[in-house]
Amino acid sequence: MTTTTAGITIRTATEQDWPKITLLNEICFVTPQNEEFTAHWRQLVSGAPPIIAVDEDAVVGATMDIPMTVTVPGGEGVPAAGVTAVTVAPTHRRRGLLRALYTEHHARIRTSGVPLSLLTASEGGIYGRFGYGPATVETTSSIDRRFAVPHPRAPDPGGVRMVHPAEARVAFTDVYDRWQRVTPGAQVRPGIVWNRIFADRESERGGGTSLFGLVHDDGYVLYRRMSGDNGTVARVEEIRTVTRDAHAALWRALLGLDLVRRIEAHLTPEDPLPYLLTDGRLVRTTSRHDELWVRIMDVPAALEARRYRTDLDVVIQVDDGFLDAGGRFALTVRDGTAMCIPTDSTPQVVLDLDVLGSLYLGAHRARTFAAANRLQAADPDVLDRVDHAFGADRDAQMGWPF
Ligand SMILES: CC(C)(COP(=O)(O)OP(=O)(O)OC[C@H]1O[C@@H](n2cnc3c(N)ncnc32)[C@H](O)[C@@H]1OP(=O)(O)O)[C@@H](O)C(=O)NCCC(=O)NCCS
Repeated sequence: MTTTTAGITIRTATEQDWPKITLLNEICFVTPQNEEFTAHWRQLVSGAPPIIAVDEDAVVGATMDIPMTVTVPGGEGVPAAGVTAVTVAPTHRRRGLLRALYTEHHARIRTSGVPLSLLTASEGGIYGRFGYGPATVETTSSIDRRFAVPHPRAPDPGGVRMVHPAEARVAFTDVYDRWQRVTPGAQVRPGIVWNRIFADRESERGGGTSLFGLVHDDGYVLYRRMSGDNGTVARVEEIRTVTRDAHAALWRALLGLDLVRRIEAHLTPEDPLPYLLTDGRLVRTTSRHDELWVRIMDVPAALEARRYRTDLDVVIQVDDGFLDAGGRFALTVRDGTAMCIPTDSTPQVVLDLDVLGSLYLGAHRARTFAAANRLQAADPDVLDRVDHAFGADRDAQMGWPF
């Protein structure tokens, strides 16, 4: 327990605090929170109780984390803290309460020994100062299905079945698990998260129908129908594919929804969908956004957990303005495997910890950060090698929101 200069107590929440935390969540996130919803979150954070800020008897701030395992480039599953439900009451904003809560929270995450901390950000300007960088990229894409014609070279492997999602649970969970193990940024998905998906509550359908499912041995789609301005829209809630064939087969099935005018889906930047069509322009990107943010808690452990595309011998200096997780490190990569050890040598690459978080899953490039002066490398060859080495063979993608 600590007390801020303004007399606010920062402490671990108890059972009795949950109703007040729920109310604070409802006010801060402007979304309804009911008992069932609270029970769901309580199960997810079990083992790591929330940290709260208390002013007299009012809960005026809260933060918590969900224990997770996330895949990094190369396929290793790394333990991580999934920081979530971060709130400060509108009566107490911009007085340093988030900083006080985060200082305590990250001290605990550090003690737990996990090398990564993850979050999704309500606003883009808050978390860089705490060492978090946006680490996955998704687009929202809109496809005018009426004119979409498969390219003559597009595979047509078939093998797609229509299912009621709740009746084909194993087909979905099996594919997800295989996809998760090869996709950087994807977390292991707990059974209670699946329960919520298959329960498909009306309040969570966003104005759409109940879920429809398409499954293939190596992929699946969950989608809803909804009314758009000019006709019916199929909104893809989730598409997960382990193989190229599953990707091609499932998109052919979606594009076969003859009386649907548009299909909306979230795609990663390198999704091959435009190349499966004779007119790739039909895949119109309507937004591009971040999903998962990464803060590296332990630089050597995190950098040694992932694999790299090319050999590397580089000294990096990582600056961490929030905690003292930075320093100078000699990073050596041979055949994809890294060794990262503290060093006193002159750094060849200098960057802030949030930038390293953005490079970590391979979704952002060192040379792009260098162009913005967010990464300094005096030798262009060194920059080139770092740029290549940190790439990943598959687009990074967050597995489930939290
Ligand atoms: C975001 C929120 C938690 C901030 O709480 P707060 O107590 O006002 O934040 P603090 O006063 O401790 O600010 C900490 C730092 O973040 C900055 N900051 C806080 N909110 C910010 C915002 N919305 N945009 C940009 N910077 C912000 C502050 O300027 C401060 O910077 P500094 O310490 O480097 O000077 C609070 O506004 C909130 O509950 N918002 C609604 C719910 C939400 O969006 N939660 C985040 C979920 S990801």
